[in-house]
Amino acid sequence: MVLKVEGLWKSFKTEQVLKDVGFSLQTGEILAIIGRSGSGKTTLLRCINNLVKCDRGSIMVDGIYLCRQVTDANGTKCVYAKGPEQLQIRKRLGMVFQSFNLFPHMSVLENIIEAPVRVFRVPRPEAEEKARRLLAMLELQDKEAAYPFELSGGQKQRVAIARACALNPLVMCLDEPTSALDPELREGIAQTIENLAAQGMGVLLITHDMVFAKRVAHRVIFMEEGEILAEGSKEEFFADINNERIKSFIAG
Ligand SMILES: Nc1ncnc2c1ncn2[C@@H]1O[C@H](COP(=O)(O)OP(=O)(O)O)[C@@H](O)[C@H]1O
Ligand SMILES: [Mg+2]
Repeated sequence: MVLKVEGLWKSFKTEQVLKDVGFSLQTGEILAIIGRSGSGKTTLLRCINNLVKCDRGSIMVDGIYLCRQVTDANGTKCVYAKGPEQLQIRKRLGMVFQSFNLFPHMSVLENIIEAPVRVFRVPRPEAEEKARRLLAMLELQDKEAAYPFELSGGQKQRVAIARACALNPLVMCLDEPTSALDPELREGIAQTIENLAAQGMGVLLITHDMVFAKRVAHRVIFMEEGEILAEGSKEEFFADINNERIKSFIAG
């Protein structure tokens, strides 16, 4: 198991966005989390990537707790890992944002080596060599000197994936990887995701695109209003959907 989330709660002001969310992700598994816009999917990814602090619950990455729920005489709270452990966890997680979030003033190569060199002190030649290998794997070998504005949507997406792979993460999180792209590019992303999983990464795929989830996921979780309503293997999920709310979502 590379990721385990238990009893996660998060609110923004008065809005309860995540309600007792729990699941686990295995090595090499592609887990799709699907649900309507506003159901809390991005917030869940942001909690896992430590961009948002959760209120209650536990998140464990490769056996290391990012946060864990502790109950004592003062009540129940969520205790976060200290800096060095947070850094260990950061190394194990790759995140590809919906809008890619590439650094606009850096070339493709610089985007990929930024975190390894600056945060993790990887020697520059080593980081560059790894970056070039990733670019070749993603068929971007001729783009290392390009700037993000010179790339198509599909190329930016692949650079964002290369950047997220630069530290050999165990878990790859992708937020709506098809939403900014033309439908023809879907198959290429599906294959890229399958490659990552075949190399042993656990892939957490957030999408509202049912066709894509059906194409690529091994397991599916359905979220609504911050709650998990159903979970199962892809075959189970699409064959046996009894919940009316899920039926209506699938029917569109
Ligand atoms: N930083 C924030 N501050 C306040 N509300 C937020 C914040 N981030 C998300 N929300 C709210 O949380 C809810 C879930 O949002 P989000 O996680 O982005 O859903 P999804 O990704 O499923 O569309 C929405 O109602 C959104 O407005
Ligand atoms: Mg979202």
